[in-house]
Amino acid sequence: TRTHDEEDLPHATKKTMADHLRRFENLFTLTPQRMRMIVEAFTETLEVGLNKPNQVVPMIPTFVFGWPTGSEKGDFLALDLGGTNLRVCLVTLQGEGKFEITQTKYRLTEEQKQDDGQKLFDFCAECLKTFVDTNSGDGPGQLKPGQILPLGFTFSYPCSQERIDHGELIRWTKGFGAPNTEGRDVAEMFKKSLAKFELPITLTALINDTTGTLVASHYVNPKTKIAVIFGTGCNAAYMEHVKDIGKIKSLGIDEDADMAINCEWGAFDSFEHEHLPRTKYDVVVDEASNKPGEQAFEKLISGRYLGEIFRVVVCELIDEGVLFLGQNTYKLEKPYIIDTAFLSLMESDPTDELLMIIGIFTHFFNIETTLAERQFFRALAKLIGRRAARMSACGIAAIVNKMGYIEEGCAVGADGSLYNKYPMFPERVHEGLVDIFGDKGRNIVTHHAEDGSGVGSAIIAAMTKIRKDAGLY
Ligand code: GLC
Repeated sequence: TRTHDEEDLPHATKKTMADHLRRFENLFTLTPQRMRMIVEAFTETLEVGLNKPNQVVPMIPTFVFGWPTGSEKGDFLALDLGGTNLRVCLVTLQGEGKFEITQTKYRLTEEQKQDDGQKLFDFCAECLKTFVDTNSGDGPGQLKPGQILPLGFTFSYPCSQERIDHGELIRWTKGFGAPNTEGRDVAEMFKKSLAKFELPITLTALINDTTGTLVASHYVNPKTKIAVIFGTGCNAAYMEHVKDIGKIKSLGIDEDADMAINCEWGAFDSFEHEHLPRTKYDVVVDEASNKPGEQAFEKLISGRYLGEIFRVVVCELIDEGVLFLGQNTYKLEKPYIIDTAFLSLMESDPTDELLMIIGIFTHFFNIETTLAERQFFRALAKLIGRRAARMSACGIAAIVNKMGYIEEGCAVGADGSLYNKYPMFPERVHEGLVDIFGDKGRNIVTHHAEDGSGVGSAIIAAMTKIRKDAGLY
């Protein structure tokens, strides 16, 4: 509904798209000062999570001890259940930091994400079986009949672990909701499915994608100390000193050892919403999600949500009579219909007329746009994308603070569709780090990570085997 004031204005003084944009600029811009406040609260949250069990940001000990040496060798299977696809890989580690990889991707349907948990794992086992059958034979690089394969299972949801081949699902994230899974040991459920399909496979390690990315990135770039995933979800892992993980003191693990921590930072500021500047659009997205209140930080950053935030803003402007007057806009009313990939495309449209944006709106939504509207969309995409990058910089800065890495600097392995495909995303993260730390922010450099859920998972399976053979588990 339009206000009277606006309707009564003579045409020349009516709000232009540029005027509307200013309102959103104020809402979506994160000032350096605000960022520093977030970093402070975030750093404290990380500390608390390390020292007390069952915190909102759970800081999960992964039982991945220290860095790989590069001499890990052998054939490993990796199964990657992320947010969008299921992937099976055969990784051959050749030592000296070299490897070969063969892989197949399988699409997951929305129904499978909501169907019974055991069925989901049965589907994983079925895909593994097809993969093993297709890749077996006598030739080079093929699996030999009778060979029993160790498998690293990358299960990218928060799981609390008591050992490396165990993990109790704390909660589903990223829109998954398969019943009969939360609170259960997913490693055990998966082993059941392996047995059902009589697969010659041992589940060696259950890992998170961030942990895999941390290890794989360090394998190729030893300066890596932190790994971040910017994909359907957003999360980070880093290497911590066992002596500083207060909540596992009673396990009697060697205090001189290091262990990777899966932060599950996407949960930062969940439920209480004290620290993050959420707009009313973020609140709408959150409340309409399948898990209201949860993953508050992730909902401002990750690929699953950015397009949806954009859509909610656009719908409000349609209701206010600002956009698409006289056109049928029902197609835009469907939640999640605007993919974050559209935002990437809008931002990268190189033409003056913004032809790609014309294409998106006519092709997918049957809507005509004016140039002013298209310019507004591009600017809005930029605000949402930039805020996501600067928010993530706050998370990285918190780990850097916690570990005291700012003086010596460190590399951050980063992966995921936002980092790899969203225009300027890495540059905006770096700019954010400089806003937080001043010039020293330049000591923290992100780089495209090595495939953590495939190669990383295989390396961790190899490291685990080596420790087991040495009697360390
Ligand atoms: C979600 C998951 C987390 C994962 C991240 C990136 O935040 O909870 O486990 O690492 O997405 O895939």
